[in-house]
Amino acid sequence: MDKALVKELNNQITKEFYSSYLYLSMAAYFNSETLDGFAHWMRIQAQEELTHGMKIFDYLTERGETITLSQIDKPPVSFSSVEDVFKKSLAHEKTVTESINNLYNLSNRVNDNACSIFLQWFINEQVEEEKNANDILGKLKYVKSEPAGILLLDKDLSQRILPVFDQKKQ
Ligand code: FEO
Repeated sequence: MDKALVKELNNQITKEFYSSYLYLSMAAYFNSETLDGFAHWMRIQAQEELTHGMKIFDYLTERGETITLSQIDKPPVSFSSVEDVFKKSLAHEKTVTESINNLYNLSNRVNDNACSIFLQWFINEQVEEEKNANDILGKLKYVKSEPAGILLLDKDLSQRILPVFDQKKQ
């Protein structure tokens, strides 16, 4: 594979693991606010991000390339409100979308069609990731800071289930 593409795919593994760390930090914040449903939702999100990183890890392995893991940055540890968390989540997902788009464009430039097809899964996933954060932000606008509304949403988010993830097929 093209060396620059391998390097950027390796960087993307680190970015996905950072995403997991970020969402785990958000889960910790919600736990500290006794919003266990929100915390649960974020813990599922953190697990999903690990599967994203591992999907690239497995792909590079399958292509016979070298995995180079890098340092994961420290995530923010304090947040000002429930809304603040989801605004930061959405902003973060937008940076990930940009990063995936750059990867896809690079794979096209170096004519690695197999990699472009592999990356299409991530392009679709990013639509979902941004939608998730946007949907919750939309609901929070109705709820504002009403405790009853926040608690209802907390109950709703406690139902999130980690999808069964098949590294090879999805
Ligand atoms: Fe791995 Fe939230 O994108």
